[in-house]
Parts: sequence; structure tokens; C-alpha cells
Amino acid sequence: MQPDTPILEMRNVVKDFTTGGGFAKTDIFRALNDISFSIHKGRALALVGESGCGKSTCARLITKIYEPTNGQILFRGKDITEIKGRQEVLNYRKSVQMIFQDPFGSLNPTHTIYHHLARPLLLHGMCENNKVKLRTRVEELLEMVELPSLTADKYPHELSGGQRQRVNMAKTLAVGADLVLADEPTSMLDVSIRIGVLDLMQRMKKEFNLGFLYITHDLATAHYIAEETAVMFKGQIVEWGDTTEVINNPQHPYTKLLISAVPDPDVRFADVIKGDLDYSDNAHHIRSISSAHSQQVKQVNHNHFVRQLAG
Ligand SMILES: Nc1ncnc2c1ncn2[C@@H]1O[C@H](COP(=O)(O)OP(=O)(O)O)[C@@H](O)[C@H]1O
Ligand SMILES: [Mg+2]
Repeated sequence: MQPDTPILEMRNVVKDFTTGGGFAKTDIFRALNDISFSIHKGRALALVGESGCGKSTCARLITKIYEPTNGQILFRGKDITEIKGRQEVLNYRKSVQMIFQDPFGSLNPTHTIYHHLARPLLLHGMCENNKVKLRTRVEELLEMVELPSLTADKYPHELSGGQRQRVNMAKTLAVGADLVLADEPTSMLDVSIRIGVLDLMQRMKKEFNLGFLYITHDLATAHYIAEETAVMFKGQIVEWGDTTEVINNPQHPYTKLLISAVPDPDVRFADVIKGDLDYSDNAHHIRSISSAHSQQVKQVNHNHFVRQLAG
């Protein structure tokens, strides 16, 4: 692998789903249309867009739950469709870890936190099967995610949502992941603790040199963790580049629409698009002109690109 090879690259990925359609007819729904992006070690890409635009489909393709209809997904330069066989897939799934929206969903209510962390350590041969060593390692992992060591003896329901999400983060550290796919990791948490969890992820990313895909519907949170941002709408990436560029100098009408919807009074996003038309009043029009597929891309800055409207 070249030193600048991305840890993960999506190259012109298309994903079609066949839906219902009755006996004679099957409808094809294009959930992803020509998606390309790269993720590098120690860096995060925010994939931002409203519900249904295709964000989780990207994550499912990367974890090999789905196969792409077209295009390529490269992990350390290697096409992931070539990752076959039990051991190879197990190794890949160890390197690529998911963190989900529901911090409870991925924890088993009948087991202690100790169990949740010791199990992957053993399963992936990350620690000797020795009680003292396992306990020490589990406590180290808890410390890394800023949880007290006594958390090990608790059950998931005894923790807050934010603490549970920290345990999920500790699980990804336990197996020595290289790439973390965090799918709306804070959207079920109280607003007051979201930033703490994002800050932790930001620190983990740097400290352990992790590549991060941060999936969110909330453009305003992208800058907490992601150097780069890609804005997605109806299966297409409409604008991408440095997060500061995309947020401070948005070009695509859909990005502007997202910004106009940010309710955070501390983030003076509204100023960015002041003087332009009233985005919230024109939402329907903007969505309709943004949905057609377009191949035309304009470079706005060194690392800032915008897809031109079709037609
Ligand atoms: N297995 C599937 N079969 C059919 N349609 C699907 C399937 N998975 C996702 N979709 C559709 O693809 C689109 C994108 O879904 P998803 O990636 O979950 O969006 P997001 O995560 O951005 O909310 C949605 O319209 C969804 O209904
Ligand atoms: Mg989703």
C-alpha cells in the first residue's frame, strides 16, 4: 500500500434495489448513484444528508452486508469483493467496525460491560485467556473512553446513553479497528451529551490513527470530528470538500437548504446564506432541481467540489 493510499475508497459506486413490483414487473430503485469518496487514517469524513438519502447503504456496502451493483470499494487499495473465506472476512470485520445510532441495540442486556469487552478481546485473539490480564485490559479500555473501571461490573441498563456509546467505542478499540463507521452515533443521545461523545471520537481518531466515516443528518455537528464533509441527496453526493469550506462557503442549493435548517443559534450559519433566496420557503423547489443525476462537477477551491444542476 502506498503511504497516501486511502484506508477506504468508494469508486463510482452504484447500488440498485429491486422492489416489489408484483408478478411481471420488478421496479429498480437506485439508492446510490455514482458515489465516490476516500477515507484516510487519522482523518474523518462526514457523510451528511436527510433520512433516506443513502448514508446507511454506504456503510452496509463497506461492511459487505450488501454488494455494489456497480463500481468498486477498495480497502487499503484492495477490492473488498475479493475478501472471501471465513477467516479473511472475520479479519476484515475486525478492521472495520460499526457504531450504530442506538447505543443499547448493540449491547446484550443480560451481560455485564466486562463481558462485552472481554469477549471481542478473546474472539479476535487480542488478549490471553487469563482472568487478571483480561480484567486489566478491560479496565484500560474503559479508561480510554473516560469511564470508571467499576463500569465493568455494570449492566447496559445501568448506564446512560452516552456511557453506552462510550462502551461501543471501547469495543472498537478492543479489536484494534482501523476504520470506524459511525452511523448517526449521537442522534439518540441528549443534546447536552452529544458533544462529549463526538469529542471522544475525535480524540480516538487522532490517538489511534483511525479512519472515521461519520454519518449524520446534522451538518452542524460535522466540524466536531470531520476534516472533510460530503453532502448527499437522493443517492448522489452534491457537494464535498474541506468541512470548513462546505459549511462557510456552501455552493449547492441543497447544502444551503440544509444550512438554513440548522437551529443552533451559536452557529451563525444563517449569515452564510444571507441575501440569497429564502431557502426554507423554497425547499420543495430546491429538492426537485437537486434530485436529477448530473455528471458535471465544478471545482470551487483546492478541496471543494460542487455538482452542477442537471439540465
Ligand atoms: N434492502 C433494501 N431494499 C430496498 N430498498 C432499500 C433497502 N435498503 C435501503 N433501501 C432504500 O434506499 C434508500 C436509502 O436508504 P438508507 O441508506 O437507509 O438511507 P439513510 O441512511 O440516508 O437514511 C431509502 O429510500 C431506502 O428505503
Ligand atoms: Mg441511516
